[in-house]
Formats: sequence, structure tokens, C-alpha cells
Amino acid sequence: MNKNIKLKKIYDNTFKKKSRVRETDEFKEVLKMEKWTGKHILDVGCGTGKFAYMIAKKGGIVKGIDYSTTAIATAQSKYNHTNLSYEQIDVSKKISGKYDVIISIGTLEHMDQPYKMLKKLKNHLTPNGKMILTSPNWTNPRGFILMTLSILFDAPITLADLHYLTPVDFVKWADKLDMKIDWKTIEHSWSGGDKLIIDLKQRLPKVFKDMKANIKQQKIDLFLKWINHKALPIIQSSKEGGAIGIYVLSKRK
Ligand SMILES: C[S@@+](CC[C@H](N)C(=O)[O-])C[C@H]1O[C@@H](n2cnc3c(N)ncnc32)[C@H](O)[C@@H]1O
Repeated sequence: MNKNIKLKKIYDNTFKKKSRVRETDEFKEVLKMEKWTGKHILDVGCGTGKFAYMIAKKGGIVKGIDYSTTAIATAQSKYNHTNLSYEQIDVSKKISGKYDVIISIGTLEHMDQPYKMLKKLKNHLTPNGKMILTSPNWTNPRGFILMTLSILFDAPITLADLHYLTPVDFVKWADKLDMKIDWKTIEHSWSGGDKLIIDLKQRLPKVFKDMKANIKQQKIDLFLKWINHKALPIIQSSKEGGAIGIYVLSKRK
């Protein structure tokens, strides 16, 4: 079952229209996690290259790879730097080189077999190398609402996610890879605050339309009002509660 390759068309179309699929705080969070100067970096699923460019500006020697033709074309025309190169390649095919840091921002959940991918990427790390991975996280109010719709009602809650990952997956994979893991989650407003209401207001009508479920707007409004007034005011921020997980997998000494 190879679903990932079918997503290429979606990405090619998306990147034709826009320069970026999502805008979250991942870029600035990951950017401050490392001293990039002089390090060899691979950005897997680099999209239109903005983050790869940000690292190159910080002194990293970066290679961005992505299978989307339109993403790489945009990256090459928009984000140029002497430290930065791009390759249009499917990461499930042969990749080359050894890297101090392999980054993958919001990409692993689109792979057919994320663990297999991590196992492969581990072979491309230098002896002290690490992987910094980000993925949407679902252990929060947003996740519980959308996963209920997805699992119980087959609702198409996202455009291209093949997996709905949580820290449980990454901890298990790190263990299997015999790697050390540090993780945190960010974007708590998106998972259980003001940003959640804005997101659901836009997303739910589309989801119900795609499901051909006749849910009246009035009911959606009532549901969001209940969450907003009765639940969100006492939702606490927690380590696992953010909408985006950031995972650092490093080799054991
Ligand atoms: C959600 S986008 C994230 C893009 C970029 N990292 C960012 O944060 O803006 C996921 C990216 O993964 C790429 N991708 C998905 N499967 C891939 C594969 N098998 N090989 C290479 N790139 C892939 C897509 O083309 C897309 O650019």
C-alpha cells in the first residue's frame, strides 16, 4: 500500500498556489534548538525551502530534499544561499551523505512507514548526529475532537496526513532505534485555546461537507460555544498538550 506517492499531486498543486502549506511556530522553535554554524544539515521534506534557508543564514551547510517538483522549483527561485542546495527526490529512494542534523518538519506523518524512514535516516547521521522531527500532536482537546470524527465517522480531517502521531509513537520508535529522545509540544492555544476555536470554526463545516453529513451551522456554533465557555477556561497547559510535537533523537553515547 503506497499512499505517500499519491500525495505528491496534492503537494504539487498546493505549492503551485502557495509558498507554504502551514504557518506554525515550529520554525522559530527548532531554529533556536541548535548551534548551526558549520554543521551539515539535511532537511527532509523541505517544501519551498524557507526553513532550510533560515538555517543556511545561521551558518549551517544545508541540503533540502523534497519530492514535489513545484516546491523545489519555488525553493530554488526564492530561497538561495551559498550554503544551501536542493534536490528533488523521493526520500524513500536512495539518499546520499552523512549529516550532523537531519531535520524533518511536518513530514513524517505523510510517509507510508514512518519508522522505516527513521531507521533509514539514522544511517545518514554522523557519529554524534541527531534528528529533529516535528509532527502534529493529537493528545489534546483538538486531537480528541478530530480523532473522534476521523475514527468513528471516517471524517477527512486533514488533507494529507496518513498517520496521527503522538509522543507515544516517537518514544517507542526511539527505543527500537536505540536512540535517546527528548521531546516537547508547542502551540497550546491551537490545541486548547483561542486558536482552536478559530481552527474548528473553519475546519468543521468543511469536514462535515466532505462527509456529506448534514450538520447545521447552528449546531457547530453551539458546540464551539460550549467548548469555548465551559471547557477552555480551565484547560491546563501540559507537556503533551500542544498541537505540535518536537522530537530530538540522538545517538546514545
Ligand atoms: C506539510 S509539508 C512541510 C513542508 C516543510 N517542511 C515546511 O514545514 O514548510 C510536507 C512536505 O513533505 C514532502 N514529502 C512528502 N512525502 C515525501 C517523500 N516521500 N519524499 C520527499 N518529500 C516528501 C511534501 O512534498 C511536502 O513538501
